[in-house]
Amino acid sequence: MVKLIPIAVFASGSGSNFQAIAEAIEQQEIHAKIELVITDKPDAYVIQRAESKGIPVLVVRPKAFETKEAYETEILNALKEREIEWLVLAGYMRLIGPTLLGAYGSKIVNIHPSLLPSFPGKDAIGQAMAHGVKVTGVTVHYVDEGMDTGAIIMQRAVEVIDGDREKTEAAIHAVEHDVYKKSLQFLFNK
Ligand code: GRF
Repeated sequence: MVKLIPIAVFASGSGSNFQAIAEAIEQQEIHAKIELVITDKPDAYVIQRAESKGIPVLVVRPKAFETKEAYETEILNALKEREIEWLVLAGYMRLIGPTLLGAYGSKIVNIHPSLLPSFPGKDAIGQAMAHGVKVTGVTVHYVDEGMDTGAIIMQRAVEVIDGDREKTEAAIHAVEHDVYKKSLQFLFNK
């Protein structure tokens, strides 16, 4: 019997990476089970994507808490309740704080749409276009207390297409879905 690693996916937006991971799991390509989707945005499209797959969603609004510690403790309780082993960040637009880092250590991963350490933080694709680079890419990395600074697990280059943001963004997203799958296979498929 293959062991399925219980994971939670954290997302703040569309959730195309969530969808790609969920589909790869359905195809038994990644040996994991998404026990929970966590979002900080009550209107994030990822909620619909998760619900249509029957995966529970926890919406936690940071503004409802006085401190980041209280916000993350609420999340941590839900993770513990479901015995989640790994946290997979997929477009989660917040820094992970000491509460979750302390509990999950090196079992938190993130995907970022650039070749780190270039263009960390928000709108990495826009930053790359503005800089005029000809090649950018995708990075999957462990999460530490910094902004996109953790140890790199996997990277892939993507050419900037005709200086065109829309085309380049579509190419990056397609590569993200494949690189995240391969990274999670590397981590979970033993
Ligand atoms: C991706 O580009 C990811 O690298 C970044 O946020 C975006 C999320 O896209 N951190 P989606 O919500 O998975 O479609």
